[in-house]
Amino acid sequence: MKNNKKLFKSALKYIPLASQTYSKSYKVHFKNISPYFLKKGNGCYVWDEDNKKYIDFICGLLPIIIGYNCKQINKAIIKQLNKGITFSLPTKIETQLSKVLCKLIPSAEMVRFGKNGSDVTAAAIRLSRAYTKRNNVIFCGYHGWHDWYIGKTKMSIGVPEKIKKLTTSFKYNDINQLEKILKKNPKKYAAIIMEPVYDIEPKSNFLKKVRLLSKKYGCLLIFDEIVTGFRVHLKGAQHYYGVTPDVSCFGKAMANGMPISAIVGKKKIMKNFDKIFFSTTFGGETLSMVAALETIKYLKSKKVINSIKKFSKYLINDINNILKNNKLDHIFILKGVWWRPSFGVRKGINKKYLIALRRNLIINKLLIGNSFNFCFAHTDKKIYKKILFKIKNALKETKSNNNFENLKIYKDGVRS
Ligand SMILES: Cc1ncc(COP(=O)(O)O)c(C=O)c1O
Repeated sequence: MKNNKKLFKSALKYIPLASQTYSKSYKVHFKNISPYFLKKGNGCYVWDEDNKKYIDFICGLLPIIIGYNCKQINKAIIKQLNKGITFSLPTKIETQLSKVLCKLIPSAEMVRFGKNGSDVTAAAIRLSRAYTKRNNVIFCGYHGWHDWYIGKTKMSIGVPEKIKKLTTSFKYNDINQLEKILKKNPKKYAAIIMEPVYDIEPKSNFLKKVRLLSKKYGCLLIFDEIVTGFRVHLKGAQHYYGVTPDVSCFGKAMANGMPISAIVGKKKIMKNFDKIFFSTTFGGETLSMVAALETIKYLKSKKVINSIKKFSKYLINDINNILKNNKLDHIFILKGVWWRPSFGVRKGINKKYLIALRRNLIINKLLIGNSFNFCFAHTDKKIYKKILFKIKNALKETKSNNNFENLKIYKDGVRS
């Protein structure tokens, strides 16, 4: 940890949080165990500043869908780099990528681009307000750092009270709660914005019912597919579950780590961006655009999402067997959906077990957050064996050393 620690000290001097992303910062990692800085990646491997090698199950917080340092994508980026990055006028690449998205995604008839997921979720909210001439929105899930959303979370510092009041949350799979909110003020809401699926699947036609309610109460249905896009299905969770929203937002995995996001939707609605101000200097930056085109080509030709699905199902099955064979299944469970499973503890079991397990996974050189975030490079057979071996070790170590007295849970995160 020598270099990691030295760099961390220096970063803290110059960078508040010592990170640009909360979920990559020291606040969510283990002191003296998790690496603080990574310097390179290849496939599903990453190296920290002390040259320790990890199998990465964070995948950059989900943008990495193929793997680090993908030669095919690098080649496309370098080819474009030699022509130019950011120009003084739009380029035809914007239209090329828009056409590809419109062909793929059920709700897409027109497209605008941003750099981060938050750019396009904020644009979607402004669009819904302009389109419906209403101010309030209902949400379910995480949607980024902008005032309209973050004001309703624990991290609302700096957001005016007036803004906070415009947003209401509802619980996933609770259609009655959503209907109650809408019924109380039938003409108040501009949009229902939601992650179509997170770590539990929709029950009892939940998404279809949300679609119906949004029509009944005249608000736009916005699917935030920043996580699910290019992971659950190439055509989005909207295709996978057969529910087409009015507007949807994509980002993360769409360019295997290059910074790009997209808002797509029906022409009649999207046309309003002619007058709504959604404009950024780097919105048409070409390297990310060609990376997105190449990523989509790669995902299609190598059937990446299917491979990850198969891999995940094997992994879930094998981990469940490890739990059973080592008499750990009364403590741990593997829960969630195939594209993002996670460890949990059984009812009544001390949650510190989970923290201890995560710590032991990292000690075994599996870099992991709350869930297994997969990429295509994980699906290699040799790597699969290594992954299982490391998980088995971490589970056994957690069982044999269940003295958690020194494990502290701080208010601002988890550290050992
Ligand atoms: C579902 C969802 N929406 C929006 C965002 C915001 O994206 P970004 O961090 O790229 O602004 C995230 C980021 O984690 C997300 O998970």
